[in-house]
This record gives sequence, C-alpha cells and structure tokens, in this order.
Amino acid sequence: MLSFSRRRFLMGAVAVGGGALLPVRVKSAGAAPTELRVVRRSLEVQGRAAEIFAILQTDGSQGLTARAGDRFRVALANELKEPTLVHWHGLTPPSAQDGVPDLSQPAIQPGASYDYDFVLARPGTYWMHSHVGLQEQRLLAAPLIIRDPAEAGLDDQEVVIMLHDFSFRDPAEIYADLTGGKMPTEHGGMSSMSGSGDMDMGGMDHQAMGHGGAMSGMDLNDVEYDAYLANDRTLADPEVVRVEPVGRVRLRIINGSSSTNFHIDLGALEGRLIAVDGHAIRPVSGRRFPLAIAQRADIRLSLPVSGAWPILAIREGDTAQTGIILTTKDAAITRVPERAAEATPALDLALESRLSTAVPLPLRPIDRTHRVELGGGMMPYVWTLNGKRFGEDTPLPVKAGERVEILLVNPTSMAHPMHLHGHVFQVVGIGGQLVGGALRDTVLVPAGGRVSIVFDADNPGHWAFHCHNLYHMQAGMMTSVKYEG
Ligand code: C2O
Ligand code: CU
Ligand code: CU
Repeated sequence: MLSFSRRRFLMGAVAVGGGALLPVRVKSAGAAPTELRVVRRSLEVQGRAAEIFAILQTDGSQGLTARAGDRFRVALANELKEPTLVHWHGLTPPSAQDGVPDLSQPAIQPGASYDYDFVLARPGTYWMHSHVGLQEQRLLAAPLIIRDPAEAGLDDQEVVIMLHDFSFRDPAEIYADLTGGKMPTEHGGMSSMSGSGDMDMGGMDHQAMGHGGAMSGMDLNDVEYDAYLANDRTLADPEVVRVEPVGRVRLRIINGSSSTNFHIDLGALEGRLIAVDGHAIRPVSGRRFPLAIAQRADIRLSLPVSGAWPILAIREGDTAQTGIILTTKDAAITRVPERAAEATPALDLALESRLSTAVPLPLRPIDRTHRVELGGGMMPYVWTLNGKRFGEDTPLPVKAGERVEILLVNPTSMAHPMHLHGHVFQVVGIGGQLVGGALRDTVLVPAGGRVSIVFDADNPGHWAFHCHNLYHMQAGMMTSVKYEG
C-alpha cells in the first residue's frame, strides 16, 4: 500500500509490539501464509489520542494487496482481549471462510488465529472489516486490493483512499443513545433514562443526533461524528501523495464508514469512474461521484503538468469533508478547510441508473424471485427486513444453479446500503425501470425507492444479507441467503 502513510501506526504501541525483527514474508503461492494481526493501536485525531483497532501485516502496513488468480493464504491472529472475526468484503470465498460469526465460522478467541486459503477469483478494490458487534466503528477495517495481472503493464500510480467516520465515544454508547438507553429530549439534550452501567462516562459530552430531515420525511445521518478520516487523517493534516507531471493515477476509494455516505469530489480534475465495488463498468466521466457505505469506486485521472489537487469526500447532506492531496513536486499546497462551501444533497441513484457493467451476466431466465421489504425507523430504533429482526428472520432459500432475483422495496425514511455476501450481483431495476446496471456487492436503496438485483447461486452455503449501516444491522436489519439441500 504505497500511498498509505505509516507515520500514524508508528505512534501506537502496535508497531513496536514484539520488539523483535520479523522476517519479511514472501507472498508467492506455496510460501508461508501472509500474517494479518488484529491489534489495538492508538491514533491521534485532532490532537487527541484514541484507542482503536487495526488489521496489520507484520511490517506494519494495513490490509493486503494480492493478485487475481493467486491463492488468498492468510493467517489471521486475534491479538485483542475480546473475540473478533474479519470478513473479506466483496470476495467470494467458500462459505466457511467468509468471516461472519456463527453463519460461516465461530469468532476467533483472544490469542488464537485462523488460516484462510482460497483462490482469488477476480481483481478489484475490496476491503476487510470486523463482523463482530460494533468493532468496525473502532476502525477494525483495512483495504483489500486485488490487482489484475492483465493491468501490470499499465503505468498507473495506485492511490488507495480509505474513508472512515470517527467518534471518540464508545460505539456501544452511540448505539445506546440511538436505541433509547439514553433518550434525546425534545430540545436535543440528553436525559439519562437507564444507568447503562460501564458505558456512562459521566461527562455529558453528547452531541444532538443529526435527524435534520426527520420531520420532512427523509432522514440522512443517525450519528454525529467527531471527525471524518481519509487514510486515518483529517484535512487539518492530510496525507499528501506525490504524483508525476502529466501522470496517470488510479484512485481506489473505499467507504469504510460505519454510518456515513459520501460524495466524492475531484475538484478541478475530471475523472473516469472505471469500476464500482471492484467490478469494471463502461467508464463514466465526472467530477463528483456518490459513494454509499461499504461501496468502492475506482477512478482514473490524467493529471496536468503541475499542481496540487485535493481529492475529497463530503458527507451526505452536510458540509463536513475529508480527503487527501495529490501534488506534483514543486506545487504549492494550500490548506483545505474541513467544511465545504455548500451542503451536499442526499445520495440518489441518478449515476447508478447510468452505469452499465463491462461484462454482463449471461442472459438467462430468472428461476426465483424474493421480495424483501426494508422496514423500521428511529423511534423506536429498530430496523427490519420483511418485518423481522435478525434472529427472528427466515433465511431466503435458493438452490445451487438458480438465477435469483431480489426485489428490494424501501418504504422507510432512510436510505439503506444493502450488501450480499459471497456473490456478485447485477443491478437490473431502479425504481421500476429496467437497467443493465453495474455488478456490485452493495447497492443503495433510497428512501421510498426500489431496486432489483440478480445473481447466480454459484457459491453454496449460508450467506449474510444486510444493511451495511452498522447501527441498522445491529438493530436487526440483517437476514441470510441459504442454499437448500
Ligand atoms: Cu462488509 Cu456483512 O459486510
Ligand atoms: Cu461482505
Ligand atoms: Cu439501513
């Protein structure tokens, strides 16, 4: 991960962990597996230290870069004091290696490790994150980049940008506030209803919940954050990536937020969106691209002779922004404010309906359709699929070999980024209109909207299907797709 700054990790206890010099692992087939350690680390945000989590290689770099066609051979070690498990978001491993506690495998206990081994079927920009409790909000996530050997000759500079929403608060406390462990009063202040025990820090530094549009029928952001991070840094001290004059850059942008949709803003540059969720599309040019929670965007840039160019992500329905700076050698870098001049609108599917996959699914009739109605709301904070919370739900049955359609209907007042594990789906319907859309693993279903997706049931097992807003998932918005027989 060339563009990833290591400075921040070195500040934590993590990088100096064992003290000993560890051998550099060779990642070719047949060699020892790559070691990934789930660790605690400390991260400085706005001059204040936060205890967070990370997924590190032995050399201190975050996440993993591999090559399509190679085997994914990883020894995942849990160095936390609590159980954890990491999901390879967007990959299509055998079900038992998908990293969802209980559905695919048990969580890894503290001090234990687990070996993964499967073939990396296709290239793309993916990511990895904890699928246990609210650990993802504590930044237990990292990039997972699968390079295409066919593109090895391209002279593109790869720049990975991992986005996060960040809070100094304990995620359990955020969740307790949402669910009424502490009730927001009419005027936005908090009154403590239940002594939610160890989570209560005493100091009432709660922010009002950002339900700006709740009364007007659309609700954008459930949680107010302290910062938005791009590669672990804010715009007060952003990552600066050196680029060549007239260089070609491939941005791989990952929205690793727990609860925040972004608009990607290329400023003065025009980019070509060439892949979404890792899958090639017919390129679309533009300066702004929506990026929902858990989605990825690969954007190709052709740079001018010299300059400094911020690559920004602006929070949906807000002015808060984060990002990195691309710069040629002698360009002057000006400070970019952490607030954009204007609030962005809600994400919509205008771009989605223009996308078309570079390689369509083979044409064939649909064997089975599931209708899934998204449900729930803020008061009480409960989110459902087909009226059920996860645990009370009935898995959606499929049979190996079927072409399956899922019709997602969203009468709620929030948008939901819906994610299917273990499969790649094609977006084929948006608001009643047929499209030959993109291949994805996560699609945004807007408030009041409907989206149809199809996939081939080609990976037997038991697979999670859920809203990727972490708090919605925690509040019940998850079910599964289960192969019969
Ligand atoms: Cu990105 Cu069920 O996960
Ligand atoms: Cu996933
Ligand atoms: Cu949701």
